[in-house]
Amino acid sequence: MQSEAGPGALHAAIIMDGNGRWATQRGLPRLAGHHRGVEAIRRTAEACPDLGIGTLTLYAFSADNWQRPADEVGGLMRLLRSYLRNETQRLARTGTRLSVVGRRDRLPNGIPEAIAQAEAATASGGRLHLRICVDYSARDAIIAAAQRLQGGEATRESFGELVAGTMHGSPVDVDLLIRTGGEQRLSDFMLWEAAYAELHFTDRMWPEFGPDDLAAAVAEFARRERRFGGLKTAAVPAAA
Ligand code: IPE
Ligand code: IPE
Ligand code: MG
Repeated sequence: MQSEAGPGALHAAIIMDGNGRWATQRGLPRLAGHHRGVEAIRRTAEACPDLGIGTLTLYAFSADNWQRPADEVGGLMRLLRSYLRNETQRLARTGTRLSVVGRRDRLPNGIPEAIAQAEAATASGGRLHLRICVDYSARDAIIAAAQRLQGGEATRESFGELVAGTMHGSPVDVDLLIRTGGEQRLSDFMLWEAAYAELHFTDRMWPEFGPDDLAAAVAEFARRERRFGGLKTAAVPAAA
């Protein structure tokens, strides 16, 4: 599984958490936090190419988020619809290819069509691949992949393709996984793709996240030593 959008480009994934608490702390309805979150998406995505990020995967709505009150779910779906309608031109102009990852059969009327239109209109974007996860569950993706497995044989690569394909995604390993909002958990996000991701947790609430926070996460990532189960190259002793 490779990163996309240029050699050496990073795949960063963000669990955009803290919208509701950000709003509540200010005496605002939770939906106000989700609205402000859209601005954070815009400024974060636009900062990616200069930070060496070629793919940005954002967790916007989990399969378990359907459990929230109907007015919050409805507000989030309206926000998604308006994002798809209003943002496509800007995405195309900034060389951003949009993909929506997740189930589509439970989304309200009009949204699957809006997704298809936005994906088609931005398909040639080569600066950043922006993947927004909606009605997404990593565990459901793994179950669906197992059900599609024919003959029971798989490699990590072929199974990874099945896992991604069940959610309309492409198989891309996550390099850097960020969660905002102070919680330190994965909440059913990218369980397969993040096998060797570097994890970065920040107390910043998503509506306040921006290019400086992303740059700080990338700088910390650059200081980490990734070993993928092996040994640090310089530490390997010469054969006796
Ligand atoms: C993340 O913010 C966005 C979604 C899950 C849709 P939350 O809505 O979870 O915000 P908190 O965690 O309640 O503050
Ligand atoms: C994860 O956040 C989902 C998204 C950010 C879209 P949640 O707020 O739903 O996760 P939990 O409930 O705190 O684990
Ligand atoms: Mg939350």
